[in-house]
Amino acid sequence: MIKTKLTEMLEIKYPIIQAGMGPHNTTNLAAAVANAGGLGLISGIGMGYIGLTKEPLFGFTEKTPKKQMLRSIETVKNMTKESGGVFGINVPVAVEFQNVSKELIEAGLEARETDNDVARRMKVIVTSAGKPEPFVEGIKESGAYHFHVCPSPYHAKKVESYGTDVVIASGHEGGGHVAHEPVHTMVLLPEVVRAVKIPVVAAGGFSDGSTLAAALALGAVGVQMGTRFIATKESDFHQPYKDYVVNTKDVRDTILAKGLFGKIRYMKNPGAQRLWQAEQEGASETELFNLEMAGFAAIDKGDIENSGMAGGEVSGRISDIPTVKELMGRIVKEAEDIIRDRLPKLIV
Ligand SMILES: Cc1cc2nc3c(=O)[nH]c(=O)nc-3n(C[C@H](O)[C@H](O)[C@H](O)COP(=O)(O)O)c2cc1C
Repeated sequence: MIKTKLTEMLEIKYPIIQAGMGPHNTTNLAAAVANAGGLGLISGIGMGYIGLTKEPLFGFTEKTPKKQMLRSIETVKNMTKESGGVFGINVPVAVEFQNVSKELIEAGLEARETDNDVARRMKVIVTSAGKPEPFVEGIKESGAYHFHVCPSPYHAKKVESYGTDVVIASGHEGGGHVAHEPVHTMVLLPEVVRAVKIPVVAAGGFSDGSTLAAALALGAVGVQMGTRFIATKESDFHQPYKDYVVNTKDVRDTILAKGLFGKIRYMKNPGAQRLWQAEQEGASETELFNLEMAGFAAIDKGDIENSGMAGGEVSGRISDIPTVKELMGRIVKEAEDIIRDRLPKLIV
């Protein structure tokens, strides 16, 4: 067992968070992670696209973001009833997305208010990609914890001053949106730990026991993993996407291209390269947005060549598709072995 402030605070077995991975649906994945003893997150961004595309994407069935969020919370609650698993929601609060952010966070707060089981087990609201200040008070008043994803010590100190409970320090090697300044986890994490008094979770590049042990050594209370969880049996991602993570063999095989709120790290494929190329050629914001949406629509059709598949550098280190339970058990056992057996032997 590894006990940290994160496991104590959330009453979870493992110091592992499954990252929000919008615009994809992570309902099944969040439930599987919660059932296995980590913190599973429902991803909000994709709900913001409801109504913007002709065909519904990512398997969402409801007509408004709010209804979809309430539906997803209900689903995860039911899927985790037996285990008593702990889960949360992830909502980016970038200016481009602010109206939807408000709607989605309010949906989360409403679910907590109206359902005791949700209030007991949907313990966290994780915000990212913007300034969470307007939301912190409401989240804390509801009794939930507020976590925010930060790319620098500067941002971490800011959110600490708003009353945020936990900072997730997210390094540039991570999949999905990354900050403009390319600061990677090895430098970012210890600096964020030094900058704030609140607990820090590490994100960007984590996939196994050695990286979990490293995060703990650098002062983190746990890790948040995105790319690693895509390639699990229960994840909601399409099989070809999971296979693409496994078949990416080189840690250099990612590319940064313009996304809705800044750069996105994609696994390299023709779809991602086209996005990169369009930006180099000066495509307008609308053209880039349309290309990004076309990339998502291609994923839903199983058209891997033309899709935009966000994924971190760590995709080059992932070579299997285990169940979530197997994966988390294996990561924690390996980290324990390293911390208990391998490292102490280095001291002479
Ligand atoms: C497919 C994908 C989608 C993502 N979407 C989101 C998102 O909606 N909200 C968010 O806060 N982070 C998002 N991220 C970033 C993750 O939360 C996480 O910080 C990142 O994946 C960590 O790096 P890793 O991929 O090396 O584990 C996404 C990452 C991936 C791979």
